[in-house]
Amino acid sequence: MTHLIAPSILSADFAHLQKDIEMVNHSEADWFHVDVMDGVFVPNISLGLPVIAAMRRYAKKPLDVHLMIVQPERYINDFRKAGADILTVHIEASTHLHRTISAIKEAGMKAGVAINPHTSVQLLKDVLADIDLVCMMSVNPGFGGQKFIENTYNKIAELVVLRDVTGSSALIEIDGGVNADNAAELLNNGANVLVAGNFVFGSQNPSHTIHELKHLYRGTKSV
Ligand code: DX5
Ligand code: ZN
Repeated sequence: MTHLIAPSILSADFAHLQKDIEMVNHSEADWFHVDVMDGVFVPNISLGLPVIAAMRRYAKKPLDVHLMIVQPERYINDFRKAGADILTVHIEASTHLHRTISAIKEAGMKAGVAINPHTSVQLLKDVLADIDLVCMMSVNPGFGGQKFIENTYNKIAELVVLRDVTGSSALIEIDGGVNADNAAELLNNGANVLVAGNFVFGSQNPSHTIHELKHLYRGTKSV
């Protein structure tokens, strides 16, 4: 399977969101990555349900919604109604994670679990076969444009092994500080989905930057 590209809307121009949505629609991106922050789980507040519902009216690709909120289980059906296709909760934020995952799937969405840089991938062992996506944070969540944490490579390799052992087919998504300097190595280590915010929306030609990330060949940065 070729890898997927999920531009992070957190770095879009919120005053011209429709324009950036259309750019992603017409680009080679696969998903929209949408970051929801509550100012409690992470030290920042971003966007919420009404903005996702508005995006849904224009977005022609799946909405990959990354919840950085406490007690995410309280809002599962609301995010479904707003138009989320994939709903990801943090392992550090949901006490009864297995129940949360089941509820996401029952609501008709793909279920993802995100892990912070300090969280061991081994903690995913008993839910890995039940989920569709692992969102591996390669920065501490809360802000776009941060520096990539190098230990992520080791964690991907470890997760690939664990995925095989558990018979899981979960996609491995890397979120934070992804750019052309680390993307090929992330894919070589086993990443399936690359989230990119600042690298895409901060570039001169975001659509071309998405094309570059989509056409990285494993082991090389050529396009
Ligand atoms: C960080 C968010 C990321 C962020 C990535 O908390 O989860 O999705 O938007 O942005 P960049 O690619 O700029 O690090
Ligand atoms: Zn994210």
